[in-house]
Amino acid sequence: MNKFQKLINKKNKSKIVSLTAYSKNMASVIDNYCDIVLVGDSLGSVLYNYYSTRSVTLGMMIEHSKSVRLGVKKSLMVVDMPFNTYRNNKDALKNAKKIMSKTKCDAVKLEGGRKIINIIKFLIKNKIPVMGHLGLLPQSETGRFRFKGKKNLERNKILNEAKLLEEAGVFSIVLECIETSLAKLITRSIKIPTIGIGASNYCDGQILVTDDLVGLNPVKVKFVKKYSNIQQIIKKAVSKFSKDVRMKKFPNKKHSYIIKNI
Ligand code: KIV
Repeated sequence: MNKFQKLINKKNKSKIVSLTAYSKNMASVIDNYCDIVLVGDSLGSVLYNYYSTRSVTLGMMIEHSKSVRLGVKKSLMVVDMPFNTYRNNKDALKNAKKIMSKTKCDAVKLEGGRKIINIIKFLIKNKIPVMGHLGLLPQSETGRFRFKGKKNLERNKILNEAKLLEEAGVFSIVLECIETSLAKLITRSIKIPTIGIGASNYCDGQILVTDDLVGLNPVKVKFVKKYSNIQQIIKKAVSKFSKDVRMKKFPNKKHSYIIKNI
């Protein structure tokens, strides 16, 4: 059984755990606890302070993913295709192949439904494993981020798009910022797993941006739960280091290279 089928088989049996990583060190810490490690284009806002993920380039995604690859040993590794890299079949295939071959990831993720369905089908036909992404689509969003699924028209559109993505052959779909009963309906209507972020615990799995959940990225978003305050831990360590340097306590002999008899 291949790794995608193994993931799909978790549906209705055990929850799928997924987190983001942008570097080897973070990837190697989280890998053991995850089913999927995503190199998300959220790195644009989280690491580079960009206003939008639209500024993230293919080169950036590839370099970060190469680093992440070094830390991911057991999880599925998925890489976001950045904005403007899948405008048509030809570009999408060329760029997806580049991502897959340079980073050795397992799959790519594309944002959108009906508008890009033929591109997704084309990638899958050409043996590129694809993860879908519906609901709030940061690459397309221009105004204020708000949850999806308030009105019937929007609810039906997202539900139909989930079915379209399943038919196209994606192995899983991220549902971002989707109203609870809609996330539940989508999850029950398709046979592939849904991975929620701000989309209730009815989804088959959950994903969060790791920097958010550990408290490294100071965001205040309803769907993020902070499980630690890494900033405080770093501050303590750095403050101790700074005192030691100023009081000439660091480096001491233990941390210095000394030749005896000189
Ligand atoms: O870019 C990202 O990190 C994502 C997740 C938030 C799902 O797409």
